[in-house]
Amino acid sequence: MATINKVVLKDLNDILKIEKHVFKTDSYPPFVIRQLFDISGNYFIAAKEDGEILGYAIGGIKTADNQGWILSLGVHENARGKGLGKQLTKKLIEILKEQHTTQISLTVYPTNASAIKIYKDLGFVGNEILDNYFLDHEKRIVMTLNTN
Ligand SMILES: CC(C)(COP(=O)(O)OP(=O)(O)OC[C@H]1O[C@@H](n2cnc3c(N)ncnc32)[C@H](O)[C@@H]1OP(=O)(O)O)[C@@H](O)C(=O)NCCC(=O)NCCS
Repeated sequence: MATINKVVLKDLNDILKIEKHVFKTDSYPPFVIRQLFDISGNYFIAAKEDGEILGYAIGGIKTADNQGWILSLGVHENARGKGLGKQLTKKLIEILKEQHTTQISLTVYPTNASAIKIYKDLGFVGNEILDNYFLDHEKRIVMTLNTN
């Protein structure tokens, strides 16, 4: 059974491999993963089974208005459909809530049915399709969970 823990430096190579495999040309480059590790503290978590990383989630907090963010979520193709994506999201929400966030937001492709299913199941709302959120001319939905 997989366990979910805070990521440590030696996990980053494996996280990068999954990030590339999962997001392909849209993946974060190594320096972004490293810097997210540097600033994300407890909000960078991974699911491991028998020493192998199967998935990860990265969060962040905009402290000025206590807004949490889910910045990335990825599960290796071979480990999908077993509830890991939902468990990682749930765990990250718990960690962000402990930091007194009043809401948690995320962005998702409108066609990403499995991710949207997880987020809706966990109480996220939002279905407005934004045309150019990441300045890449791709469509995204911002979903939000109120946590107070
Ligand atoms: C999204 C992702 C993290 C889900 O990981 P996972 O471990 O397979 O997720 P889970 O098993 O917890 O849940 C997936 C849910 O979606 C459902 N699902 C799968 N394919 C689906 C589809 N085509 N349409 C609707 N629901 C679907 C599953 O039945 C499951 O729901 P359930 O819990 O009610 O059974 C994984 O597919 C992934 O890494 N995708 C690429 C990266 C990505 O899109 N990340 C999210 C960015 S916002």
